[in-house]
Amino acid sequence: MSHSRLTLALETGAAVLPDDGLIAVIGPDAGADLSALPRDRVQIIQGFRPDHDAWAGRGYQVVTDLGDDYAAAVVFVPRAKAQARLWLARALAATKGGLVIVDGQKTDGIDSLFKDCRKRAACSPALSKSHGKLFSLTGDAADLADWAAPDHQAPEGFETQPGVFSADAVDRGSALLAQALPAKIKGRVADLGAGWGYLSAQVLDRAAITELHLIEADHAALDCARRNVTDPRTQFHWADVTKFKPGVKFDVILCNPPFHTSRAADPALGVAFLAAGARMLTPGGEMWIVANRHLPYERSLATLFRDVAEMGGDTGFKIIRAAHPLGVSRPRR
Ligand SMILES: C[S@@+](CC[C@H](N)C(=O)[O-])C[C@H]1O[C@@H](n2cnc3c(N)ncnc32)[C@H](O)[C@@H]1O
Repeated sequence: MSHSRLTLALETGAAVLPDDGLIAVIGPDAGADLSALPRDRVQIIQGFRPDHDAWAGRGYQVVTDLGDDYAAAVVFVPRAKAQARLWLARALAATKGGLVIVDGQKTDGIDSLFKDCRKRAACSPALSKSHGKLFSLTGDAADLADWAAPDHQAPEGFETQPGVFSADAVDRGSALLAQALPAKIKGRVADLGAGWGYLSAQVLDRAAITELHLIEADHAALDCARRNVTDPRTQFHWADVTKFKPGVKFDVILCNPPFHTSRAADPALGVAFLAAGARMLTPGGEMWIVANRHLPYERSLATLFRDVAEMGGDTGFKIIRAAHPLGVSRPRR
């Protein structure tokens, strides 16, 4: 088996861990190779529920946020630049100056992150392998102080964090869906993949809504949603939508489904959201969905719902209403 960058760096001495103390491992997805790390000294920081649960299931200690005292840290670089910088700054502070090992893919901007780090702190040479780089970093937390407090602009009236979906601007698809939703929405409502709460915030003017459940896997996004949507009818669930089982079924579901798993495009995830929606609805319930026009959801929807109709959209997005779930458990893709 080919070695991961982390294993290679630790086995060759390109990176050397301290002999004892807790090691923060920030942001590894479920497929990351942590086999070269001493498992009993590792604390994984992972706020995305499916990955969080996968690591916990393998016996790792997993938390959703970084603490403030570690002997070393390993940062798996996320896609969003501001989030990557924030994690590095926080890791350097939490390790009191390092060692911080940084591992990332070219497609996630590791080359420019390495360049930027070298201007500010002491960096090892980079180990390049498998379309990515690994380097380690030591220095004063003050070296990255501006990265710790990013100049981040959330959409007006809302709070977001770097790295959460549509952190800087309301998603165009979600805005179109919000405009298309009928005034008569009522009863128990759920927002699947609720993010920082944009869609939920748009429907709470409907007095006939008795409960609104925000279900979201990204812990940081749900934290923002708790601050953005403060109506007493709301309930928040940090959960994997595809596994979530509500106590009572919903009358209406709103959804802008994700179509990426970690980094790769994965329309099957969107389809799993549609199937989860069908499973969570009352027999007379309806699901309102927005999707990129190129995503082929119609065939799956036809196996899941009796009535499926396009209700508008624009050249890039389609709005779909799917009503009367058929109780079919296996959607065709
Ligand atoms: C396209 S975004 C929509 C976010 C929000 N509803 C909006 O309109 O801005 C999809 C959301 O689904 C979340 N997500 C991805 N996979 C998930 C899963 N398995 N379970 C729950 N939420 C998930 C993502 O974190 C993201 O916030």
